[in-house]
Amino acid sequence: MPTYVITGVSKGLGWEFLNQLSSDSSNTVIGLVRNKPATEKRVAEELSGRTNITILHGDLVDYSSLEKAAADTAAITGGSIDYLIANAAQVTEYDAYRSIDSLATDPGELTKQFRSQMETNVLANIYLYHLFMPLILEGKIKKVVFISSGMGDLELTRNFNIDVTPVYSTTKAAMNMINAKFSARYKKEGVLFLSICPGMVDVGKFSEVTAEQGARLGETVGKFKMYAPDWQGPDTPPSSVKAVLSVVNQCSLENGDSGAFLSHYGDKQWLK
Ligand SMILES: NC(=O)c1ccc[n+]([C@@H]2O[C@H](COP(=O)([O-])OP(=O)(O)OC[C@H]3O[C@@H](n4cnc5c(N)ncnc54)[C@H](OP(=O)(O)O)[C@@H]3O)[C@@H](O)[C@H]2O)c1
Repeated sequence: MPTYVITGVSKGLGWEFLNQLSSDSSNTVIGLVRNKPATEKRVAEELSGRTNITILHGDLVDYSSLEKAAADTAAITGGSIDYLIANAAQVTEYDAYRSIDSLATDPGELTKQFRSQMETNVLANIYLYHLFMPLILEGKIKKVVFISSGMGDLELTRNFNIDVTPVYSTTKAAMNMINAKFSARYKKEGVLFLSICPGMVDVGKFSEVTAEQGARLGETVGKFKMYAPDWQGPDTPPSSVKAVLSVVNQCSLENGDSGAFLSHYGDKQWLK
């Protein structure tokens, strides 16, 4: 009866993790969100009858809410969890279609956005890991998964001149290192930490772009096609989440996967 805690289950990939994992009634699935009533309503409407789901309030940038979510989780599960999936992140339009020179023309805004993304996507995950570690250490499976991005990969950026999302990409690269640091600390206690890129997934954001943003997106997609000539375009949440969970299940400390940064194919190729 594995127990999962997933952050950011209100929408996008987080919702799909909640959906797929709770479809097995022997799993206990706890989802953390900022707006608990809204997600509880969505669960009641779209996943009714799934008594193995609990939604808790958990805002990444509110330490006390994470502390309470960890305590509430322990009360539900008896003090242990098997998997922690750090999925939630600030994924903003701010730098999605812009390069570093353009962002730096407004230092006030760049400073504000940089601090905010680093706080949400990196620092908050350190606290999340720290607060849930006692529960993971009591669990049987002991797997911690950070949902990363190939945009945080130095080689992809270098070799294909991927100049968009400079702040977001930096937070993902930083968190890959934090994941490896937690791995270095907790490997001896049997905890496997993984950073996994889910691929490029359409969670509804691409339909909202302006003409200018669309042109930048097209340019980046063109670079992705040079990187992976057979790539057919963005994935769907169900297919991406299925692939990520398969990598999570296959990876182990015994295989030497501790602290690894992998794609949803289980290797270092972010798109195929
Ligand atoms: N989609 C892709 O192509 C892609 C590619 C690579 C990596 N990823 C990664 O996959 C993960 C999920 O992304 P997505 O595409 O599903 O994006 P999304 O639809 O924007 O979902 C982001 C989730 O994070 C939550 N969140 C944001 N700030 C939060 C905070 N302060 N506290 C708690 N939760 C917060 C959001 O909750 P609210 O509803 O409250 O805003 C939402 O549930 C992210 O880590 C992203 O970087 C996505």
